[in-house]
Amino acid sequence: MSKELKPQSIVIAGGGSTFTPEIILMLLDNAETLPIRTLKLYDNDPERQKIVADAVEIILSERAPHIEYLATTDPKEAFTDIDFVMAHIRVGKYAMREQDEKIPLKYGVIGQETCGPGGIAYGMRSIGGVLELVDYMERYSPDAWMLNYSNPAAIVAEATRKLRPNSKILNICDMPIGLESRMAKVLGLESRKEMDVRYYGLNHFGWWTDIHDKNGNDLMPKLKEYISKHGFSLEGLGKDPKENDPSWMDTYRKAKDVYQLDPYTLPNTYLKYYFFPDEAAEHSDPNFTRANEVMAGREKRVFGECMRITEMKTAKDTKLEVGAHASYIVDLARAIAYNSHERMLLIVPNNGSIVNFDPTAMVEIPCIVGSNGPEPLTQGEIPRFQKGLMEQQVAVEKLVVEAWVEKSYQKLWQAFATSKIIPNAKVAKDILDNMIEANKDFWPELH
Ligand code: NAD
Ligand code: G6P
Ligand code: MN
Repeated sequence: MSKELKPQSIVIAGGGSTFTPEIILMLLDNAETLPIRTLKLYDNDPERQKIVADAVEIILSERAPHIEYLATTDPKEAFTDIDFVMAHIRVGKYAMREQDEKIPLKYGVIGQETCGPGGIAYGMRSIGGVLELVDYMERYSPDAWMLNYSNPAAIVAEATRKLRPNSKILNICDMPIGLESRMAKVLGLESRKEMDVRYYGLNHFGWWTDIHDKNGNDLMPKLKEYISKHGFSLEGLGKDPKENDPSWMDTYRKAKDVYQLDPYTLPNTYLKYYFFPDEAAEHSDPNFTRANEVMAGREKRVFGECMRITEMKTAKDTKLEVGAHASYIVDLARAIAYNSHERMLLIVPNNGSIVNFDPTAMVEIPCIVGSNGPEPLTQGEIPRFQKGLMEQQVAVEKLVVEAWVEKSYQKLWQAFATSKIIPNAKVAKDILDNMIEANKDFWPELH
């Protein structure tokens, strides 16, 4: 690319996220194709953000002193004069993720960050937090775009579609990208970008229907053969490092069973929670769920390293790595800033792309992204199997947003009762009542 690229001003909302340092390193790594003039961190928890922000200040002073830097909890300072908001907030933080995972388990139901009752509870917390960010952005930088990957992305996307229909917000997920990187390894390709994919579904609820290389060769047969044996685990190639968290390895392996349900497509790993919820619950330790694993693992590692950098006053020898998997965020920002027409999976209003599906549903499909935003690619008609599953799940997501808007206990109970993961309306009510109590500082009061 030419040297005349206009440098961008970016605020990372959720500055205290465990993902912030590696995303900053990733942005620096991509500075040639996405030059940056200003970088700001914004969070509503000053103590948590400071741990990350102090280390980022040292990293930037050593590696990119020309970038203007600010970490703040003041929305006006944070959102003034910016081109992009990169949003990854977690309303309620890990303490509430732990509740989302542990409350359902008391009733024998799997508790998960974005799926089933845990995802619904998290959605009820996230909607207000993300809308607040959109409103700050529009007040202080009306031309900016928000690239949102705060979860649960499906519910957040439905909320922004319904409540901020004209806002410049794009919702994106890294799971298909992560799985495509695994596919590329299986195929012996350098990069996932050597593949052209067709994919459709809802966020954390979708299927690949077609994968070709740039010469037009069909890559599906080889992938199907591998995935039918190993799922998305790379153990079949001897390439999955032992230090991968065991819960993720289980998920990668389990895709082999999910695949059997529809051997014409390749499934997103999250479908395991919908097809095998009992097994997922049985395999959970009710005293040590994924939130505990993350707090003991990623949070400890990243924050420990940030504190070490701050103490040593240098990041020259840091173990923090470039979050290469997060480079899709740069791809997306670049597509908007410089009209690159990159093809990417985004969560967008269906609007006819899946011909036989609700036009108002937020679906995850390939789009061509340019300065005017995404142009979704039509996916045609989908089979009854996927259509039925998606209709049930989209009803859950829409009911949650309606429940939040109308402060409706009835609709939220309906959302719980409609979720494929929850066995019956009685269990739905028990979990809901427990979650109302746990979330009283975050949810609207329901009546
Ligand atoms: P984290 O708890 O470490 O960080 C989240 C930060 O958000 C915290 O510092 C918290 O104080 C802050 N925050 C909470 N509410 C806020 C508000 N209203 N305004 C401003 N800041 C607020 O969480 P994490 O594990 O690093 O994940 C961050 C987010 O990214 C989560 O929502 C996670 O689900 C999401 N995520 C999404 C994808 C994807 O595929 N879409 C991938 C990875 C992570
Ligand atoms: C994937 C998903 C995200 C999710 C994350 C959970 O990246 O796409 O939406 O937040 O996994 O990872 P964690 O390590 O926090 O359990
Ligand atoms: Mn995701």
